[in-house]
Amino acid sequence: MPVKSMFFLWRPTETMTRLSHHVLRRMIWGVSLGVLLVLPACGGSEDIEEGARTYARGCYSCHGSVGLGDGPTAKLMGIQPANLQQAVREKSKAEILNTMTRGRQAMPAFGRSLTEAQREAVYRYLLTLQGKRAIASRGLDPTGIRGLR
Ligand code: HEC
Repeated sequence: MPVKSMFFLWRPTETMTRLSHHVLRRMIWGVSLGVLLVLPACGGSEDIEEGARTYARGCYSCHGSVGLGDGPTAKLMGIQPANLQQAVREKSKAEILNTMTRGRQAMPAFGRSLTEAQREAVYRYLLTLQGKRAIASRGLDPTGIRGLR
């Protein structure tokens, strides 16, 4: 077979090239669109998870598993922490963040122990608690003092 015709066999035709460019362009668009759509969603849920972890460490013991003010430490101390589901309905974000930063009465201030981003994440987590009711612990009590509840 002469070299020239082999080269012809190997070389993609004009239409094939245009077709593959077209497919490639579509793939690139698809992938970028996918990344654009998925990235913010990931960020959001990570943020809520961060808020949930911070809540479990810093707030759960007083405000309870779903923010109703029925945490185990509150019971031991005989204090009545606020119902945070009600608080986020009735108060502005600024008021809630302010209480977190400065503390109030029996509630400690979190202005130093938590960063502003962490306090914001907790606030966003509080918004997700709306309407949730406490369920009986199935051994997942973050404080590990389930027996005292
Ligand atoms: C040691 C127990 C305790 C801990 C820990 C605690 N709180 Fe509180 N919290 C309270 C008490 C008690 C009150 C009610 C204070 C008062 O008498 O006004 C309160 C009030 C609040 C309020 C005010 C609600 C309103 O209606 O204005 C918010 C918001 C709040 N807490 C959020 C949090 C968050 C978020 C965390 C964790 C970062 C947290 N608290 C940790 C005990 C606690």
